[in-house]
Amino acid sequence: MPEMIDIRSDTVTQPTREMLEAMLQAQVGDDVFGEDPTVNALQEKAAALFGKEAALFCPSGTMSNQIGIKVHTQPGDEVICDELAHVYLYEGGGIAANSGASVRLLKGVNGRFTAEQVRQNINRRDDSHLAWTRVVAIENTVNKGGGCCWDLREIERIRAVCLEHDIAMHLDGARLFNALVARDESPRDYGRLFDTISVCLSKGLGAPAGSLLLGSRALLAKAHRQRKLLGGGMRQAGYLAAAGLFALERNIPRLSYDHAKAKALESELRTLPYVAAVLPVETNIVIFTLAEPLSTDAFLQQLQHQRVRASSIGPQTVRFVFHLDVSDAQLDSLLQALRKLRLPA
Ligand SMILES: Cc1ncc(COP(=O)(O)O)c(C=O)c1O
Repeated sequence: MPEMIDIRSDTVTQPTREMLEAMLQAQVGDDVFGEDPTVNALQEKAAALFGKEAALFCPSGTMSNQIGIKVHTQPGDEVICDELAHVYLYEGGGIAANSGASVRLLKGVNGRFTAEQVRQNINRRDDSHLAWTRVVAIENTVNKGGGCCWDLREIERIRAVCLEHDIAMHLDGARLFNALVARDESPRDYGRLFDTISVCLSKGLGAPAGSLLLGSRALLAKAHRQRKLLGGGMRQAGYLAAAGLFALERNIPRLSYDHAKAKALESELRTLPYVAAVLPVETNIVIFTLAEPLSTDAFLQQLQHQRVRASSIGPQTVRFVFHLDVSDAQLDSLLQALRKLRLPA
């Protein structure tokens, strides 16, 4: 039987033998005491890459996002983000639970809003009725926006508005490296625009776990305390950090292969009678809607029979995500499987 093609997410990757070798070789210590040399090396490397003073290794992107928001806010403050934002939709209501902050949702284009929208949604601080707008959170690439990338110039304009109003900026860069590769940008472009940045090592970069929060030394000192409060201090975390270092050193340029596969799939989907619409593909995520009355359940079940696992992310809406465990041959099998599907009209 052919092996299953798992394109539910880029989080499903298995560490390669070489990555496991690097993990085995790691020098470790107690990171809660700051004594793990591999964690320290990873944090220093990431901070230097983005031109930031400091970095903190966290178990997950959810934790690094939540800490990032927490260090900018007090209970009663407000966070501005897009209605598709992971920090709002998929982090368990963490902004309310962890920071006690309210959220102002903007309706952007596939998760990307404008500086003008931000300006129009800032609460004045001289009116005691209002929650103070303290942080704008941007996601790049936008997961629910089909992996689309932000225009750096718009982020610069948002930065200018935020500076004018004393508002911090947080980047959910779970897949920022995909955006950097797709748009030929540098981590420093983002380091200079955001106060805090969360990047994930366990998505397209292929590490088994781990994310990094980047920022100033002062903010990261607060973040260290918040990680402790959330129970996120890990002891000999250097074994995981070694995978993260390997990922940063070896797995960034190859993201373009995932993007090429996603593009090939996009072209195919546009020819299929049961596909109603496909979001424009820029990176490794492909989101499309099925023509009515075909249900996502029926579609995903049929795909599963063809040994493909994908996920539903809303009514009629399916997401495929490419990653380093999907080979060229598997892409061909996937395209064939999609062509073969006989679905009720
Ligand atoms: C855009 C985005 N941000 C944050 C996260 C959270 O990462 P984690 O699953 O490591 O908590 C995800 C996870 O898929 C994500 O897609």
